[in-house]
Amino acid sequence: MRANWRFRLAGFVVLRRIVLVALLTAAVVIALSLSSTRAQSEKTSVTDFAQFKPRKELPGEQFAGRAVCARCHSEKTHSQAHTSMARALFLPSQSATLKSHPRMTYKSGIYSYEIVTEGTQPIYRVTDGKETLSEPILYAFGNARIAQTYIFRHNGRLQEGRVSYYKAIDALDWTIGDALNPPPSVQEAAGRDIDSAEARNCFSCHGTASTFDDQLQLDSMVPGVSCEACHGPAAAHVAAMNAGDTANSHIFNPMRLPPEKLSQEFCGACHRSADTVAMMPNLGGIGNVRFQPYRLFNSRGHDPNNPHFACTACHDPHIELTSDASSYDANCTGCHASARSNTDSALPQKPSSANTPSKPVTVPSEGKPCPVAADRCVSCHMPKVELPGAHYKFTDHRIRIVRPGDPYPF
Ligand code: HEC
Ligand code: HEC
Ligand code: HEC
Ligand code: HEC
Ligand code: HEC
Ligand code: HEC
Ligand code: HEC
Repeated sequence: MRANWRFRLAGFVVLRRIVLVALLTAAVVIALSLSSTRAQSEKTSVTDFAQFKPRKELPGEQFAGRAVCARCHSEKTHSQAHTSMARALFLPSQSATLKSHPRMTYKSGIYSYEIVTEGTQPIYRVTDGKETLSEPILYAFGNARIAQTYIFRHNGRLQEGRVSYYKAIDALDWTIGDALNPPPSVQEAAGRDIDSAEARNCFSCHGTASTFDDQLQLDSMVPGVSCEACHGPAAAHVAAMNAGDTANSHIFNPMRLPPEKLSQEFCGACHRSADTVAMMPNLGGIGNVRFQPYRLFNSRGHDPNNPHFACTACHDPHIELTSDASSYDANCTGCHASARSNTDSALPQKPSSANTPSKPVTVPSEGKPCPVAADRCVSCHMPKVELPGAHYKFTDHRIRIVRPGDPYPF
């Protein structure tokens, strides 16, 4: 009995030695792998930020978060927070639309829809009178400048709600492109399945830091298009700036891109480039009015490589969009001498509103003057186009002479 016990004890000692050896080996392995990650991060601290593109990962680089940017870039950080881009995605508890509309309803045939906030949690609910589907809303897509669409999980899969909120009607209606006539079941009527590839697309266009190793990481994602969605992960930049090391800024500045690349590849990574639209069936149909890089690219006579024609000539992505047509005039008259003055003196200066960040023109005017009007150019030459189902008139970025009865140029 005793011997047996001793034998067991001896066995235990042997076992303990094995465990110790194993632990030591593990420690060595961990130490080695730690030093190799350090080596790796040393290596990645010289990442070529010129390779950065929106929606693409820069492996090894860490995010810093926008609160940090505010310390040194306070003006940009505060103004950017008011853009629709910064507010392109919300957790349901942060959606002003859901807060101000605690109960929204919609009815189609036998189906009744309800988006209702019970306590603090908004719920998406659909019933045909017999069967009811009811799920907590996980994400609200869109700043509701136009619309807001709701995402929930059903049977473990992400789904896009078939009905969305529309600002123009201040009510729910079919999510664009989603009307089913008539929906075959409560399940079908409630939402559309979003597969993992589509989910990665949605969250990388509307959010920041949403994927790691090509996998969706919703826990660490920052809702909305924040600084680092456009400038890349910025921890190395912050460290370098804190250390006063300006030899390499360790961050992406899109200002250095040639104008056409900026419009097509940078803004176009989310707003859809001419190349992307060229691959769509029927060039995306009239829906391509939403794809400004494509539309702008096809403006007759305009050189996409002229900096006064890039997206940033008319839009500062750190400032809210302005609807004042006259604030865009300086941009047009820089190239199109007005019929009244018809000189090169009408060069655009940085307007005081700072909404149209046009730089002083260094090229002479090269476009013809307008025989019709001398201001509010965009109101006639960038017409508003109603997109069926969107309850919104998009601004056609294909700059052109619009004559009554002309068909929409695809
Ligand atoms: C400790 C202060 C500090 C913080 C924090 C900081 N920056 Fe900067 N940033 C600077 C300075 C200083 C410059 C100008 C350095 C230069 O010209 O190379 C700069 C330049 C930049 C540039 C232009 C870089 C270039 O190469 O032209 C961008 C873009 C930028 N910062 C974005 C950010 C973002 C995004 C954040 C937050 C994640 C951030 N910064 C946080 C100090 C800071
Ligand atoms: C990472 C994706 C992404 C990139 C890159 C991006 N955008 Fe956006 N942008 C969006 C999304 C998403 C919205 C819709 C926001 C909403 O209303 O919910 C949007 C909306 C806008 C709007 C409408 C209203 C507003 O105030 O924000 C403008 C203007 C705009 N973008 C301009 C630009 C320009 C110019 C660039 C390039 C310098 C650019 N965007 C790059 C995703 C992006
Ligand atoms: C390729 C990038 C991209 C993808 C993918 C994408 N969006 Fe967007 N979304 C945009 C841009 C850019 C805008 C702004 C221009 C516009 O309205 O078309 C926008 C606008 C919107 C709006 C209107 C916001 C407003 O201004 O009121 C909603 C709602 C929306 N998206 C929902 C979604 C949902 C839901 C998904 C996924 C199921 C999705 N988007 C996928 C880029 C994208
Ligand atoms: C939608 C994309 C987008 C977002 C989001 C964005 N930026 Fe920028 N940023 C740009 C572009 C484009 C430029 C170059 C502007 C130009 O060419 O006029 C720029 C330039 C800058 C610069 C350099 C300015 C200079 O004069 O060289 C700084 C600093 C900067 N951004 C900081 C920020 C900070 C901080 C945030 C977040 C609060 C932010 N950006 C969010 C697109 C973006
Ligand atoms: C010549 C000036 C000009 C240029 C260049 C320009 N835009 Fe616009 N953009 C406008 C005007 C004007 C509006 C409408 C503002 C309003 O009335 O609300 C607008 C509106 C928008 C909107 C809001 C959607 C809508 O239809 O209301 C988005 C998004 C946008 N622009 C993105 C871009 C992108 C991306 C580029 C570059 C490919 C670009 N813009 C280039 C003038 C311009
Ligand atoms: C970078 C310089 C540049 C800018 C900026 C510019 N244009 Fe042009 N535009 C041209 C040139 C060059 C042509 C071709 C020659 C011509 O018709 O004047 C042209 C052509 C046109 C045409 C005739 C198109 C056709 O179908 O025949 C119209 C209309 C026009 N521009 C309006 C505008 C408006 C409105 C703006 C501002 C929103 C603007 N342009 C901004 C250079 C520019
Ligand atoms: C009230 C609507 C309206 C406004 C505002 C307007 N235009 Fe025009 N524009 C037209 C029409 C219509 C034509 C075609 C005239 C014709 O050929 O009969 C035209 C023609 C043009 C052309 C072609 C000229 C040619 O000889 O081929 C250019 C360039 C142009 N406009 C630029 C501008 C600029 C720049 C502004 C702002 C300073 C502007 N337009 C404001 C309606 C307008």
